[in-house]
Amino acid sequence: MRVIQDVAEMQSLALERRGRGTSIALVPTMGALHEGHLSLVRLAHEHGDEVDVSLFVNPTQFGPDEDLARYPRALERDMELCREEGVTTLFCPGAEQVYAADHSTHISETRLSLGLCGEHRPGHFDGVVTVVAKLFNIMLPSVAVFGQKDFQQVRVIQRMVRDLNMPVRIVMAPIVREADGLAMSSRNRYLSGAEREQALSISKALRDAEDAVAKGASDAEVLRTSVEAGISDAGLKVQYVACVDADSLEPVENLDRAALLAVAAFVGNTRLIDNVVLRLERPGC
Ligand code: PAF
Repeated sequence: MRVIQDVAEMQSLALERRGRGTSIALVPTMGALHEGHLSLVRLAHEHGDEVDVSLFVNPTQFGPDEDLARYPRALERDMELCREEGVTTLFCPGAEQVYAADHSTHISETRLSLGLCGEHRPGHFDGVVTVVAKLFNIMLPSVAVFGQKDFQQVRVIQRMVRDLNMPVRIVMAPIVREADGLAMSSRNRYLSGAEREQALSISKALRDAEDAVAKGASDAEVLRTSVEAGISDAGLKVQYVACVDADSLEPVENLDRAALLAVAAFVGNTRLIDNVVLRLERPGC
């Protein structure tokens, strides 16, 4: 595995590989890799001749009161895991490599990024799409794999790729959960034992909603409020629970199309997100 920190070196390797006709599947990450990331890498192997991972804690997607400074960093371990997973190139530039001191250009997606997390994290998705566009320009992947846990992020990136005609296919990989249901996240390592127990209320409430839908429930507001109650009863501070159309991310009233039921909540100081996609099974469909 090659480890590259330098942007120019990464870009010239990418151009050389493109010249050779080698297709690259990229897994963009912020490091502190866990099983969820590794599942993305495994899926990426099905989509490209070679798999690259980028590891960059992108400062522009963190708000002033967010956890940029304390975001977990584990480069040695991440390198080892990438090596074990057959990654060809690990690109881990420093912030000064990615952003010139006087950088003054960014991308904004102005529709899908407004609600859900975007409403509570102003500027977050501008930071995400800008860095992802930069990674695409530097690394020239033909496919990029992102996890469903950040469902809105995937939709926003798909929209950017479509709107800006980027020749990259976006693959969304399913959420990976711990045995007890907690969605894997680099931020889970912030949780104390008691907080981790409380955090389980998120996946439990979402599972209960799925069960209710399997039994025929279809009123989005009823599902939404029961998830909200389940989570706040466990002592979490709910930031939002939303039931939205899985494509447009607009709120829905019922489940006549695939809907995303998405949660963001604080356990202590740690903000966790999770979601499920709900589809009403109709007999004969
Ligand atoms: O999902 C993440 O880890 C980040 O938002 C991403 C896509 C790597 C951009 O910094």
